[in-house]
Amino acid sequence: MILKVVKGRKFNEEFEVDADKSISHRCAIFSLLTEGENRIKNYLKAEDTLNSLEIAKKLGAVVEEIDDEIVIKAPDKLREPDDVLYCGNSGTTIRIYMGLLASNEGFYVLTGDEYLRRRPMKRVINPLKKIGADIDARDNGNLAPIAIRGNKLKNFHYESPIASAQVKSALILAGLYANKPSFYKEPFLSRDHTERMLKGMGAKINQSINENNECEIEIYPLKEKLNPLNIIVPNDPSSAFFFAVAAAITKSQAIIKNVTLNPTRIEAYRILEKMGAEIDYLLKDNKYEPIGDIVVKGTELRGIEISQNIPWLIDELPALSIAMAVANGKSIVRNAKELRVKESDRIKAVVENLRKCEIEAYEFEDGYEIIGGEVKEAKIDSFGDHRIAMSFAILGLLAPMEITKAESINTSFPNFFNLFKKIADYRIIDAD
Ligand code: S3P
Repeated sequence: MILKVVKGRKFNEEFEVDADKSISHRCAIFSLLTEGENRIKNYLKAEDTLNSLEIAKKLGAVVEEIDDEIVIKAPDKLREPDDVLYCGNSGTTIRIYMGLLASNEGFYVLTGDEYLRRRPMKRVINPLKKIGADIDARDNGNLAPIAIRGNKLKNFHYESPIASAQVKSALILAGLYANKPSFYKEPFLSRDHTERMLKGMGAKINQSINENNECEIEIYPLKEKLNPLNIIVPNDPSSAFFFAVAAAITKSQAIIKNVTLNPTRIEAYRILEKMGAEIDYLLKDNKYEPIGDIVVKGTELRGIEISQNIPWLIDELPALSIAMAVANGKSIVRNAKELRVKESDRIKAVVENLRKCEIEAYEFEDGYEIIGGEVKEAKIDSFGDHRIAMSFAILGLLAPMEITKAESINTSFPNFFNLFKKIADYRIIDAD
């Protein structure tokens, strides 16, 4: 599918974006650890999270949709599925399920689409193998498809070299099924939905975070099943951020409704503020997560250097690069090597595509430099990556953009096209 953005306009609009992807995945997966009925409102019905839910069903969960709620009942014991478990484009699905399946009896094969099958899985496979997991995968145990024979795993003391919520979540699940308490450390706190949700469900998990945001976690084995979830999934601040950038670059106003205000998720808004946008955060609720509205008013933007708190804004860096492309002066992103192993190599995707728009941009191994300028009409290669496609759709507010493989937007944000109508004229052409 090609998305042709013809022109944009200045706006003052409310955006009720789709539900949070990270929290929705966890609702599907963590329901499998409970006894009773999990009641989930506002579950994200995007390709990625529907794959997580489909896998829960293949593992024996009964899933019903009653009014606006999804109700999930877990089986007593996970069922061995009679086919491979398909994770689509989703790193979160494949990596978190690995931790659960490696520690539960049965034979499981996890795989995904052509993009997911290129992404590194050793970061989860290796620590799980060290505690006795029976896992193998292509490329010497690194790439999907992944075969797992689940069994009883040992407890662990693991210091992860990377700040990754997917690795952390997989290991926490393994720790819940281990024989004795386990210890996990990450060099910088990654998004902490897993800890918040599992604690809320009755798991014994102690987390401590020091002044440098290094994070240590003790995980105690489950003595009994967890309490079921009763949750309204907040909206996704990463999805909403495309509209925040849209407001910032067109000097418009976006009122973003009901998103999680978890500090590990809204750092990109703080950066946009530092670049000159006016932003207000209105806290409205606090269950599992702080939830509220964010109001973004666009003004003249200035360039910025970012090298800190990267895990808290990693998913928003492509959208931030759009703000950088129109800001006054130079912007630099460093310490963001992880961008190379996301849904696409996002360093390459950002730099190559900005250059096509006649914006000066330079690639580093761990980031990029962007000199703000005047954006020109361009044909963009999204590399099949939803966040690259949506970022350049937003740049289309300033000059016409033709974006390939835009169907990837449906992996995380199917309602994007509807909301985008409020601020832009666009056409969709079916074949690439
Ligand atoms: C996610 C964690 C992040 C993020 C991804 C979603 C999650 O990756 O980039 O889009 O839901 O756990 P890391 O595992 O690198 O933190």
